Amino acid sequence: MVNRMQSSDEASPRHVSRDTLAVWAGENESLVQGATQVPVVYSAAYGYPDVDTWLEAATHRKPGHIYSRNSNPTVQVFEDKIRSLEGAQAATSFATGMAAISNTLFTLLSPGDRVVSIKDTYGGTSKIFLEFLPRLQIDVDLCETSNHEQIETAVARGCRVLYLESPTNPTLRVMDIARLARAGHEAGAVVVVDNTFATPVNQNPLSLGADLVVHSATKFLGGHADAMGGALCGDTDLVGRVYHFREITGAALDPMAAYLLIRGMKTLPLRIRRQNESALRIAQWLQSHPAVEAVNYPGLETHPHHDIARRQMRGFGGVLSFTLRGGFEAVKQVLPKLRLAHRAANLGAVETIAGPPATTSHVECSVQEREAMGIPEGLIRYSTGIEDVEDLMFDLSQAME
Ligand SMILES: Cc1ncc(COP(=O)(O)O)c(C=O)c1O
Repeated sequence: MVNRMQSSDEASPRHVSRDTLAVWAGENESLVQGATQVPVVYSAAYGYPDVDTWLEAATHRKPGHIYSRNSNPTVQVFEDKIRSLEGAQAATSFATGMAAISNTLFTLLSPGDRVVSIKDTYGGTSKIFLEFLPRLQIDVDLCETSNHEQIETAVARGCRVLYLESPTNPTLRVMDIARLARAGHEAGAVVVVDNTFATPVNQNPLSLGADLVVHSATKFLGGHADAMGGALCGDTDLVGRVYHFREITGAALDPMAAYLLIRGMKTLPLRIRRQNESALRIAQWLQSHPAVEAVNYPGLETHPHHDIARRQMRGFGGVLSFTLRGGFEAVKQVLPKLRLAHRAANLGAVETIAGPPATTSHVECSVQEREAMGIPEGLIRYSTGIEDVEDLMFDLSQAME
């Protein structure tokens, strides 16, 4: 369902903080028989006593669910929570983050259109740009991520969509969203931002001028690495168009996954504040470690986009990456020695997770493709969990000895 802003939100007499919204947004209407928690509604379809009432719900003249590929009560709560946290008019949801991204691009782009993006989007997104969109005669222009002038020039040549990700995975580059959204709008483009790494706790792209925000809810939103999901937030018309594509093509979010994501999101602000603090401490400490060649984290004053990050982010996020001296061989030595990290293709969980792009974000790419994206083989992506930061630094230290 396209979850639209409720009139009670618009008429709200007092600003409610993001911390409170994370706990309460979207919940009250779904509660049944005094339950204090959102029910997991496993019903493929919804029955009506008479055809008139059924028709009113089916034609959206009255609220009501028809079929769970279109909408579901549990899923609706997830949509309302992320909509509130992103300050959006509307939100919809998907089975995965990649479904959110691909459904958005396939809805907005038609043969003959042009899309401008950056070289270091998440590996799956990059595959959509390099493999699937060109097949549909869509012209894809991927710019150097750090080169805002190049992106502005590419956009000014005309494009239907400007697609950004900030901070990027796994290079942690930061895009000036307000500046690029202005350039996109001058060219008549729809500006889409992947906000997975920042989360709505640290950054709200819509308030910086973007038209649409996408999320892999699998990551920080859920926060416990036990559910997959995706979300799209923005204005009612744009989100409605993508929702229509999704309701027909079918990548709907499962109710149980929606429940787990809702439960995770209640602690999102708490987790993110902790992860922001720990990631910054670890990044600062790694900078002077002899085994480390470079550290990427937008919270570091030495980060090339630190000023932009300070302007548009409230915190710098839980993920950092660093390059070991000794390349991929060094990565193979260090990773197995970590005791407080899963070696896995994921991020954003309560447990720390570490891995190289070759087996995680950019597994689909060749060494040469990764090199072209500025991703060295000695890079480790480190997603800080909520463990004690001193323990994490001790663990990294012993692994790199
Ligand atoms: C920034 C970013 N966007 C999108 C995705 C895709 O999300 P999912 O794995 O939920 O499809 C990922 C996955 O790692 C990601 O890191």
